Amino acid sequence: MGNADSPNPGLADVVTIDGPSGAGKGTVAGLLAARLGWHLLDSGALYRVVGVVAERRGVDLADADALADMARGLDIAFTESVTDDAVSVAVVVDGTDETSAIRAAEAEDPASRVAAVTDVRTVLGDVQRSFRRPPGLVADGRDMGTVVFPDARLKIFLTASVGVRAERRMRQLAADRRRLKDQHAGDSLRAPRGDSAAALTAVRARTEARDQRDRTRDVSPLVPATDAVTIDSTALSIDSVMTEVMALVRKRGLDR
Ligand code: C5P
Repeated sequence: MGNADSPNPGLADVVTIDGPSGAGKGTVAGLLAARLGWHLLDSGALYRVVGVVAERRGVDLADADALADMARGLDIAFTESVTDDAVSVAVVVDGTDETSAIRAAEAEDPASRVAAVTDVRTVLGDVQRSFRRPPGLVADGRDMGTVVFPDARLKIFLTASVGVRAERRMRQLAADRRRLKDQHAGDSLRAPRGDSAAALTAVRARTEARDQRDRTRDVSPLVPATDAVTIDSTALSIDSVMTEVMALVRKRGLDR
């Protein structure tokens, strides 16, 4: 439960990690959740689920009512596990494991489209708040510190140059593809193959388009909370980012 310094002593403490795609939020959030022994909320996974299922069912991504109804009816379950000192989540939707489907490159665009729909955000906001459980929650996304958990004890805004973020995203997609191939299911991903400049340019263009949509939408746009600490990871290793994050965590007494 929240410690005595918490503005909400009855509620579990929250650390939020917001920022644009590819800044390293997911990696940092997973490592931090494992170090603190807290729960993890990957809020982007929820938008990815709604986008992927809507496309599969032929729901119009511009039909706010139909999307919100569909989102309300989904049974979404996260299963946490610890691998390589980091918490990761498997995502089961209506009884089917959709973890690979929502991590695919194809899921990015529909996710950021449905994320611009106010009623979808209202439905998913309630789901996100239900993740707040003792001993604490590390939540990563775009509006965790600004809208969903405004009373978070520590808010981090993690950013990096668009070039570096595109390179990281490309490496992540390649790793996902290798993992899927190992599971004999690798042919469904449209991620660019190889390390060619053209592939990187394509990932960069997609990253910029998604950033633009996330930053300029009317509802919960991607902006740092006024009380967030910004960390620019462009020239930092994950270890260096974690050193900075852990210093902030200790300063706020959250590692007790
Ligand atoms: O973080 P991830 O890349 O999985 O997020 C997918 C999309 O979901 C983002 O591009 C963004 O449009 C949306 N999103 C959001 N608010 C969040 C998390 C994700 O709008 N809290």
